[in-house]
Amino acid sequence: MADVLFEPLKFRNLEIRNRLIRSNMSGRFDNYDGSGTQARINWETRFARGGVGAIISSFVPVHVRGRILPNYAMIDSDDKIPFWREVGERVREHGCKFILQLSHGGRQRDIAGIEVPEGWSSTAKPDPLHGFRAKAMSKIEIEEVVRQFGQAAVRAREAGVDGVELHGANGYLITQFLSSGINDRSDEYGGSLENRARFVIEIVRSIRARCGVDFHLQMKISATENNNAMSIGEPRGNTIQDSVRVCQWLEAEGVDAIHVSGGSSFPHPRNPAGDLPIDDFIRVYDSMISSGDHTFRNFLLLRNDITGTLFRERWLKERGDVIEGLNLADSEAIRKAVSIPVICTGGFQTASVIREAIRQGRCHAVSMARPLIANPDMPKMFEQGMDRPPVPCTYCNKCLVNVVENPLGCYDETRFTTREAMIADILSVFHPPAFP
Ligand SMILES: Cc1cc2nc3c(=O)[nH]c(=O)nc-3n(C[C@H](O)[C@H](O)[C@H](O)COP(=O)(O)O)c2cc1C
Ligand code: SF4
Repeated sequence: MADVLFEPLKFRNLEIRNRLIRSNMSGRFDNYDGSGTQARINWETRFARGGVGAIISSFVPVHVRGRILPNYAMIDSDDKIPFWREVGERVREHGCKFILQLSHGGRQRDIAGIEVPEGWSSTAKPDPLHGFRAKAMSKIEIEEVVRQFGQAAVRAREAGVDGVELHGANGYLITQFLSSGINDRSDEYGGSLENRARFVIEIVRSIRARCGVDFHLQMKISATENNNAMSIGEPRGNTIQDSVRVCQWLEAEGVDAIHVSGGSSFPHPRNPAGDLPIDDFIRVYDSMISSGDHTFRNFLLLRNDITGTLFRERWLKERGDVIEGLNLADSEAIRKAVSIPVICTGGFQTASVIREAIRQGRCHAVSMARPLIANPDMPKMFEQGMDRPPVPCTYCNKCLVNVVENPLGCYDETRFTTREAMIADILSVFHPPAFP
């Protein structure tokens, strides 16, 4: 009998070879000015070679104001088109499609860099955890950012990539408008769900008007926000019922697929769901001290044994016990309410779990990030009949926290024979070098 994992998936404007998608992963591989590097190409081709049907890119800012960390390749100007063309072509050599994530951080960032001191947002409230400052956008500024998303989509199309994804999840700018926990505006972009969705709908219209209806466009959404997970007194934000409505509106506007995530911030106890590796976290958090009004306080609290432990315990409690497939209930609710394909992210690395989720109609495909860092060849392992990689991802989240300072890779020493082997694996992304 044919294995559902390896059945092609048809979107309106795109077909991929299987149901296993590489989820978005950033990493500070590029140049400070947002131009791309060979390391980014090496990184993306690694997963294409491993057998995924499509790769959804890193966080690609549509403007320097929307950047969350320096050294992420951007798509803010036409001179970035050749780089993305090269990435798409190199990925496609392995039969894999490439979808570029159009992104804007708004008030949520890690290290802003020298160009932009303050994030634009739906609100002037700083983010509650780190205290990143924000400016509530004027209507002219909203129009400007809507236009920037449209222009970036045109560049992506010009680069020949297979589609774009709107980063509408995890607390970045689109979430800052959508969220009832964050958006406190009193104009037509705030208040009711319909008003809060106006920003993203205008972005979709801007993209469709410039790129036509035959270019793949999907949206990543935080279906349930749990905005009060780590910040006492904050409202809980959008519920799955709110997100179902938003997805129906997006479908009506011509969006081709929904990518289901969770959490009103990044990171969030439920995304990426796993441990909070305190020691690694403290080692890198110092580089964020000047970024937010609460970051120095947080650094001291994390370093203290008692408060650091309490923070981690709360984090784990808010995460819950399930990691693999933790967004499936939300994905299923959206799947039942729309007729476009639904991709679910969150912890997937067991073939039988993924197969069952697809067979039961809870999603059409899954996306994977950390499990593929740990085992880039996982689709090939599944194809050979393995249910789980022999050395799976432990969800320790050390890759996540290290990304602020160090190259993206697997930092769980227990998965390697020696520390040297781990470091060699991390640094392998720089091979082949740009100038051999
Ligand atoms: C290091 C790292 C970087 C990530 N960067 C992004 C990103 O740029 N955009 C995004 O939408 N999600 C990002 N994510 C979230 C993943 O795409 C994914 O949805 C999440 O980690 C859950 O999947 P997983 O359990 O398979 O890791 C990132 C996750 C990790 C671990
Ligand atoms: S560091 Fe490695 S094992 Fe830990 S979550 Fe990341 S990929 Fe998985």
